This record gives sequence, structure tokens and C-alpha cells, in this order.
Amino acid sequence: MCRCSDHAPEDVPEAFHSTLRDLQLDYIDLYLVRNTTESMPPSIHWPIRVKKGNLGFPMKAEEEVALDIPATWKAMEALYESGKAKAIGVSNFSCKKLGELLQVARVPPAVNQVECHPLWQQHKLKAFCKSKGVHFSGYSPLGSPGWLDTDVLKHPILKEVAEKLEKTPAQVALRWGLQMGHSVLPKSSNEARIKENFHVFDWSIPNELLAKFSKIQQVRLLRASILFQETDGVSEYEREAMWDEDV
Ligand code: A2P
Repeated sequence: MCRCSDHAPEDVPEAFHSTLRDLQLDYIDLYLVRNTTESMPPSIHWPIRVKKGNLGFPMKAEEEVALDIPATWKAMEALYESGKAKAIGVSNFSCKKLGELLQVARVPPAVNQVECHPLWQQHKLKAFCKSKGVHFSGYSPLGSPGWLDTDVLKHPILKEVAEKLEKTPAQVALRWGLQMGHSVLPKSSNEARIKENFHVFDWSIPNELLAKFSKIQQVRLLRASILFQETDGVSEYEREAMWDEDV
């Protein structure tokens, strides 16, 4: 994972090789993110850049540095061309940022990993990724209960569908993602829940129940205010502009 603090072109290979050393590997196919079950190719994680060494959330406005995605991406391409990263991708990129990147990329991003669950379905971004051949991958597919505010798993439509199909709301959320055609990246540190989350491949949500998901009110749970300190003098409205109104 190329963190926001490692976006300077010279820091990208350093961060990458530090990950290789940590994992004791010669190359990376899929990069294991945040000690979780999320996996993805090495990627630019956020369309935000902060000064080197700043890793914690929330980030401080004074630590933010102007983004230079083409320069960061060039360094990512060099990793790809060295053969040490078998695929490279981005995370939290809007249609706008992805479109701009695709205009300059010699190696197009293999994946865009973004928040996606029944309460934030991302149809526009998903269609854009599909049209450009970029795999769309959903993080927080369960709504990251305990971290993000709204409880996706308690939504009445998920509960209703789960009851009808004799599945859990988590399984329904994951199966919905698969039926929508994207990959889902659930996290759990609990063995029983990890097993539960795997049991989503031998059944499906019938069309009449799937149609109910289009009635769910949409809300992005990962607000920019979670990433930045409230007191940094920049309004939440200005911060949300980082999503370019779609991610
Ligand atoms: P735990 O590690 O105790 O299982 P997301 O994948 O959307 O980011 O959500 C991760 C959170 O969801 C973790 O807090 C995890 O807690 C919880 N979780 C994972 N699987 C399930 C499940 N099947 N039912 C309820 N909560 C789950």
C-alpha cells in the first residue's frame, strides 16, 4: 500500500521495498492491506497526500501536500515494469481522478478499491470503471460496523431479505455485492464470522428481492471528516470536495 505519506515519486519504491522486506517476498501479486482480509494489488490508497511520516488518522490540514497523481503513478509503473508488482491499482478514486489518471497512464490501474455496500452502491463509478476495464472492488462491504456511523447490517431491507432467505444480514450484503458484479473485501478477526462470510457462493438473491436494494437511501459512510481533524479550519463541505461528488 502506497500511503498518503509516501506519494512523492522517490518515496514510492522505498515504501514498496519496505513492504517486500516486511513480507519477506521478492515480488507482490496482491498486497495485504491493514492486516485484514482485504487484498489488492499495490495501489495509491487515497487521493490525498500528506507530508512523509504522517500515518495516523485523523490527518492535519497543515500536513497536506498538493497531489501529483501522474508523478506518483509513474513511480508505480516503474514497480510494475520491474516485475516486482504484478499489478498496480488505485483506491478511493472518483470518476474524475480515474479519468485524469487514465489519460496519462502507460499502465492503466488494474483496480479501484472504494467504499461500497447496499447503502452506498456507487453505480456511476462502477459503470465508469467497467467502461475503462478497471476492476471495481468494494471495501467496507458490511459498512464497517463499530468504525463507521450507520449500521448497514441493521437496515430493515437487509434484515427482511436475510430472514426470507434464512441467511445473515452480512451474508446478504456480501452476496448483493457479488451479484452486482464487484469483488467484496469483508474483514473479520472472528473465526465463526470469517466462515459465515465465505458462505455466499452457492445461493443467490432472487430478482424480486434484489429489486428492493434500489429503494435504499444512499449515504457515503466514509466522510472526509473522519480522515481530517475537525479543528483544522477547513469546512466539511470543502473537505468532501475530495470525492469529486461521486466516490
Ligand atoms: P469482527 O472482526 O469482530 O468479526 P467491513 O468488512 O465492512 O469493514 O466490516 C468489518 C467489521 O464487521 C468488523 O468490525 C467485523 O468484526 C464485523 N464483521 C465481520 N463479519 C461480520 C459478520 N458476519 N456479522 C457481523 N459483523 C461482522
